[in-house]
Amino acid sequence: MTGVDISEEMVKTAAENAEKAGLSHKVQFMLGDSQCLPFKDNTFDVAINECAVGIPDDSQKVLNEMVRVVKLGGRILIHESTWRIRLSQEEKDEFAERYGTTPLEFDEWRAMLEKAGVKNIVYEFEQWSKPEMFWKIRKDRDVKHWFFTMTIPEKLTTLKRIFARYGLNGVITVMKNERVFYRTVLQRKLGYALFKGEK
Ligand SMILES: C[S@@+](CC[C@H](N)C(=O)[O-])C[C@H]1O[C@@H](n2cnc3c(N)ncnc32)[C@H](O)[C@@H]1O
Repeated sequence: MTGVDISEEMVKTAAENAEKAGLSHKVQFMLGDSQCLPFKDNTFDVAINECAVGIPDDSQKVLNEMVRVVKLGGRILIHESTWRIRLSQEEKDEFAERYGTTPLEFDEWRAMLEKAGVKNIVYEFEQWSKPEMFWKIRKDRDVKHWFFTMTIPEKLTTLKRIFARYGLNGVITVMKNERVFYRTVLQRKLGYALFKGEK
């Protein structure tokens, strides 16, 4: 299994996590851009992208690349932020700016996958979009409210790092963005869709 991320820090963390889990002999992590993957055509059985198709400038290129590197008959899987209701372009743009990724409508994701050459697409949408799916992501404990997704020490460490890099305004912006994000989820405007298909 090979993992790719554009951030050196994320590649390092992934390798450390694999080491801790005793899986280093099965996985490798590399620095790379998902819009231009450093692999030959038809290399892998499966390509998975979990919430990182909407971040780069060209999401279509990301999907095209996933299809390119998968063998004929191989599987392509994405899990992506997806609008649950129709919103104005203005509201979508403001949210994307705060969130750092570009959610799309369900039909838009499907059309892009088809354009990339993904066939026999199946999906799950409603079950991934329940608000609690956004904070029940801890393996170590049960989280009942989004505010407690991170522990207090984790929050403090994160805010300290943001402060060091972006100052007080950065901290205020991040806290405001977090509130806007969860409000959008609670208003059932934003969900997650899981798509699976074949090359
Ligand atoms: C929302 S996170 C994905 C979360 C991840 N699936 C997990 O479970 O931790 C998005 C990741 O995409 C990476 N990323 C952003 N643009 C990228 C690009 N062009 N190529 C590869 N990775 C990219 C970021 O560095 C970040 O680690």
